[in-house]
Amino acid sequence: MSKPIKLAILGLGTVGTGVINLINDNLDELKRRSGRDIIITEVGTRRMRDDIDPDISQNADLLAIAASDNVDIVIEVIGGTTLAKDVIMHAIKHGKHVVTANKALLAEHGNEIFALAETHHVHVAYEAAVAGGIPIIKVMREALAANKIEWLAGIINGTGNFIMTEMRDKGRPFAEVLTEAQELGYAEADPTFDVEGIDAAHKLALLASIAFGIPLQFDKVYCEGITEITLQDVSYAEELGYRIKHVGFAVRRSDANGDTSIELRVHPTLIPQDVLLANVNGVKNAVLVNSHPLGQTLYYGDGAGAGATASAVMADVMDLVRVLGSNGQDNHINNSHHVPHLAFIPEQLSDTTILRAEQMTTGYYLRVNAHDNPGVLADITRILSDAGINIDAILQKPAHKVGQVPVIIVTLPVVESQMNTAIEKIETLESIIDKVVRIRLDELA
Ligand code: HSE
Repeated sequence: MSKPIKLAILGLGTVGTGVINLINDNLDELKRRSGRDIIITEVGTRRMRDDIDPDISQNADLLAIAASDNVDIVIEVIGGTTLAKDVIMHAIKHGKHVVTANKALLAEHGNEIFALAETHHVHVAYEAAVAGGIPIIKVMREALAANKIEWLAGIINGTGNFIMTEMRDKGRPFAEVLTEAQELGYAEADPTFDVEGIDAAHKLALLASIAFGIPLQFDKVYCEGITEITLQDVSYAEELGYRIKHVGFAVRRSDANGDTSIELRVHPTLIPQDVLLANVNGVKNAVLVNSHPLGQTLYYGDGAGAGATASAVMADVMDLVRVLGSNGQDNHINNSHHVPHLAFIPEQLSDTTILRAEQMTTGYYLRVNAHDNPGVLADITRILSDAGINIDAILQKPAHKVGQVPVIIVTLPVVESQMNTAIEKIETLESIIDKVVRIRLDELA
């Protein structure tokens, strides 16, 4: 066998510990597949641990580890965008390959990090950054390499999906389920990243880049979380044949002149109950990809947790081990022989327009709380029809408070600016009690 591959693991939280456990459990399989021994030489941790193999050096100086001659591949699982960035840039400059689960860092600084990696002929692998254990990065960069991707829709935050599932199935309160997700190691260090949609937006930015060959543009992702979703809307959606899920969309649009633009958005969405995506529950993630000529394909699995994330981290390590193995003594990768970081060769990334929220097109679920007066429904539907909005279904519920009726309207797809104008007008009607509740809707057809 060739000389062993030496790993450094920076961060011993849920994921770092999961990687150590995976290597302990599956080392024979890893060696049989790669033809190389794989050893952890260094771990980076602020608190020294007495449950770590004494042959592994523990060090709080992450920059020193990143530059160490005793390391071939640096696994960054500390998270965050400051120290993690410094460490990764340092590792790249010292010729180390990097495996990271850090979606926030790559979504915000990936363009810079990947460019530096290209210059230094090393690779930054990030399968674990999106959808946990589902090998979606490998699928999109490699298995779908011959396809033109038209759109993708993904449930890409396990914590959010776990919360939505528990609320719907068991009527459990939001805060209680979030605490459980934190205990299970699913949630981000700052759980607002999960429930406000930011974590999903980070992942969507990565998926969109490798789908369409565009630079990372996290700042252009429209982002809405699940904190405003009520059990009332969950139940009305079910009655109408839909389920509310937090979904990330990356959609290629073509206008009448044939010009292409892209929608990047994460938000709660009503999707038909009978599509597979609507039945992705708990911490599971799934990504539905519509590509030409393949059509729709769906990728499903655990989106968070130690085992799932460690599986993705080590799949990246195995890819690198094979490339390094083929290069003999030289640890540098020949860029032209390696899958590009963002699936397309860097000079071919395009500056396709990313649409602003008011330019995006979706269906809508509206809930209007109105006084039970004659003509209210007619007023609302007239405003929608004057705005050119096509109504697909209407549901008027019995008064839940004396004299107040919830009116539920489902519309066909409409440009958001048209819907904004219509909602502003509806809210000026005298019979309307509260602000109109709106949730986007997609048939995923
Ligand atoms: N907090 C993330 C989630 C972890 O819940 O999906 C995996 O990225």
